[in-house]
Amino acid sequence: MTQSRDKDAYPQAGKRRMTAPQPVTMVCNDGALERELLAQMGPDTVFMMGDNPALPRMPEKPTLLDFFHLRFGAITVNHLLQSAKLALDAGHSETIVMACLLHDISNGALIRTDHGYWSAQLVRPYVSEEVAWAVEKHQALRFLPDESVGYGYPEAYVKYFGEDYVPPPHIQREAQEARKHRWYMTCRILTLNDVYSFQEGLTVDPELFTDIIGRNFKQPEEGLGFDGSPSAHMWRTMIWPDNFL
Ligand SMILES: [Fe+2]
Ligand SMILES: [Fe+2]
Repeated sequence: MTQSRDKDAYPQAGKRRMTAPQPVTMVCNDGALERELLAQMGPDTVFMMGDNPALPRMPEKPTLLDFFHLRFGAITVNHLLQSAKLALDAGHSETIVMACLLHDISNGALIRTDHGYWSAQLVRPYVSEEVAWAVEKHQALRFLPDESVGYGYPEAYVKYFGEDYVPPPHIQREAQEARKHRWYMTCRILTLNDVYSFQEGLTVDPELFTDIIGRNFKQPEEGLGFDGSPSAHMWRTMIWPDNFL
C-alpha cells in the first residue's frame, strides 16, 4: 500500500468546514437542510473542499488497493475479496478473478443504484473490455436463472426485494441480450461466485491479488483520479466524497 501523506495541514485552515449530503440521497427534499447550511456560511464557516479529517487520508497517487484499504466499506471489501478468492481457488481465469474482484466496486464508496453500470464505468479505462463487460452485465444477469449451469434466482434477492419482485423491463432485456453474448459465460461464472460470497468472519488479504491486479489492471502512473481518464472524476469523488462542488 502507498504511504498516506502526513496528517497535518488540511485545506481551508482555521475554518469550520460544513458537509452537505449528496442530492442523490435526498431527491425531492424541500431544501430545508440546504437552506440551513447556506445560512451558516460566514467568515469562519465554509463548505468542505479537499481532504476531510474524518476520513483516512489517501496517498497522492492512489492505487486500486488503496481504495480497498482506505475508502471501501467493510462489507463490500469482504464481498469482493471473497468472490475473487472463490474464483481463484476454483482455478478460473484471471479475467474472471478480476471481474469478481471489481464487480460491486461502486458499492464500496460511490453509489449502490445501478451498481453494475457504475462499477463498469469506474474500471473500464483500466481493464480488458471483457472484464468491464462482465462487471456491467452482472447486475442484470444476477436476476436471470440458468439451470444449465446451476444458477438459480438468488435466495438473497428474495430477502432483499421480496418474493414478488420483478426486475424492470430494461433489466430483463439487458439480461436476455447478455445471455446471447460471446462473453456470457465470463459473466455467468462471476454470478456463480457472487452468490455464495457473503461469509461473515472470513477475511481475505487483499494483497493476495497484487500480482493479478498488476497483470490485469492498468494502474495509472498519476494515480487513480488524476490521469484524465473518462472515470477519473469518479475516483476523485471517492477520494473527496464531501466536496461541496
Ligand atoms: Fe452486484
Ligand atoms: Fe456481488
